[in-house]
Amino acid sequence: MTLDELEARCEEVRMEWAQASAAAHDPEALEALRVRFLGRKGSVTSLFDALRALPPDARATAGKLLNALKGEITAALDDRRGALEREAIGARLQAERCDLSLPGTWRPLGRLHPLTQVRLEIEDIFQKLGFDVASGPEVETDYYNFEALAIGADHPARDDWDSFYIEDRLLLRTHTSPVQIRVMKSQPPPVRIVCPGRCYRRDDPDATHSPVFHQIELLWVEKGLTMAHLKWIIGEFVSAFFGPGYEMRFSADFFPFTEPSAQIHIRRPPGDWLEIMGAGMVDPAVLVEVGYDPEEVSGFAFGLGVERMAMLRWGIEDIRLFYQNDIRFLSQF
Ligand code: DAH
Repeated sequence: MTLDELEARCEEVRMEWAQASAAAHDPEALEALRVRFLGRKGSVTSLFDALRALPPDARATAGKLLNALKGEITAALDDRRGALEREAIGARLQAERCDLSLPGTWRPLGRLHPLTQVRLEIEDIFQKLGFDVASGPEVETDYYNFEALAIGADHPARDDWDSFYIEDRLLLRTHTSPVQIRVMKSQPPPVRIVCPGRCYRRDDPDATHSPVFHQIELLWVEKGLTMAHLKWIIGEFVSAFFGPGYEMRFSADFFPFTEPSAQIHIRRPPGDWLEIMGAGMVDPAVLVEVGYDPEEVSGFAFGLGVERMAMLRWGIEDIRLFYQNDIRFLSQF
């Protein structure tokens, strides 16, 4: 091959490159081009092989020509590769574009049911005073729900706790008081517990009655407890839950399992008296029933309605609102 022929070949290769590269639109096609022109058997590479056949005085000139051609093609390949990459990034940015000025997707936030809020708050008040939280079954035996609490089979007080029976002596508990018995039977004194839980009564639903409702029971049994301690504990509870400025009133009541028994009312003058719970000193007969010695220890207890506490706190006038799952009601708490 002569220098002229080589020059002509270079020109041909340049034309081929121009044509072929115009048709290459993706990275694979570019790679095929690189192999075709610059690969080990590529058209530029084989021209370098032809260099050796030239007369020595022509080689320097030919070398420059070939290097220039190789340089052009290499640079063009780099350019095209860069352009393709930028195009791909541009397309991706376009596809993944997001308009940060658009309003977000609104997801409703859940919250605790008002009865749960009140229960947790009351548990917290008593836990800080040193009480443990205890629980018992909702399906209860006649023994724990009545007998052990000195409500015998023929006791007229059974009318106050009319219940749903599952079997002859198995019922849905009517109050959380049976948990007192279960806990006392399971451990020696002292006992300091609160027992939150669901209770059932055969009441027709109306603004203040629901066949399913919630109570929190408190029981403290220890050496030397008197009604003064009961009064102190309830006072602590009233100021923690309702706030300052309340008066308390104890009036005589009757529960078979406490002696004496009291009904507790509170009011913030000049407001009306509001009943908040039943309470009393644990009847010695109940202590004997669970194996405690009433000469050694004494105790007191109370039971309050969680719904009632929530209704007083928020001025809710119909207990049925708690169970209707109406978001317009629930979202207010
Ligand atoms: N168990 C009673 C009820 O459901 C409430 C009650 C009254 C609980 C006096 C007590 C108590 O622990 O001492 O009506």
